[in-house]
Amino acid sequence: MDTKKPSAPSEPVLREHVYDGIQEYDQKLPRWWLFTLYMAIAWFVGHWLFYYQLGYGSSDTVAIDQAMAEMQTAREKQMESISDAQLWEMSRDPKIVEAGKATFMTPGMCVTCHAPDLSGTLAGAKLPGLPLSDQEWKHGGTPLEIFKIVRRGSPDVTKGMAAWEGVLGMQRVGEVVAFVLSHHQEGEPITRAPDSPPAK
Ligand code: HEC
Repeated sequence: MDTKKPSAPSEPVLREHVYDGIQEYDQKLPRWWLFTLYMAIAWFVGHWLFYYQLGYGSSDTVAIDQAMAEMQTAREKQMESISDAQLWEMSRDPKIVEAGKATFMTPGMCVTCHAPDLSGTLAGAKLPGLPLSDQEWKHGGTPLEIFKIVRRGSPDVTKGMAAWEGVLGMQRVGEVVAFVLSHHQEGEPITRAPDSPPAK
């Protein structure tokens, strides 16, 4: 191997000044290094124009927000055509039930009127809401009937059971219904309350 030092013209030249005991070579930067530097600058200019000045590209945050919104709409669509069987299935999925429980138990939400144990009573006192843990239902006890009243509220607006769809969105309404259903068994007897509105 040839271990000779570079010959005279390209011999590194030491600069005169010394900072903190460090002396620099006076050397040209390698071409490949300069090339990547210039490419990075050009890339920056293009990127800056494309995303920030001309508005062609959307930033990651915007793209993610869009994708999330699309997913949400797709989910809501799915909810629109949900069946009894699917709601039962959701009620056996611990993750969905847990999410529904969190909504139900939020202070000021369902728990306020229907009680933490869904009995509609708290420490012997009757709360405004009906019990949701028994087999008697005023507005029908099939999963879709329960889904409907939570979405749309009581037909009798003076009763205080609001329409929750606008507040929670369909997805969370579905979850909270799954939580209510998790206190029940598919196929258990359902009775209508004496003051039930006539079934259609
Ligand atoms: C302000 C009190 C209040 C809140 C909060 C409330 N409800 Fe109700 N809920 C009621 C009342 C009152 C009724 C009975 C309505 C009627 O008599 O028509 C009812 C009825 C229901 C029924 C029908 C029961 C049946 O026997 O048919 C379901 C299901 C229900 N609520 C679920 C929920 C869920 C889930 C939430 C939370 C998202 C919720 N409620 C929040 C007061 C409330």
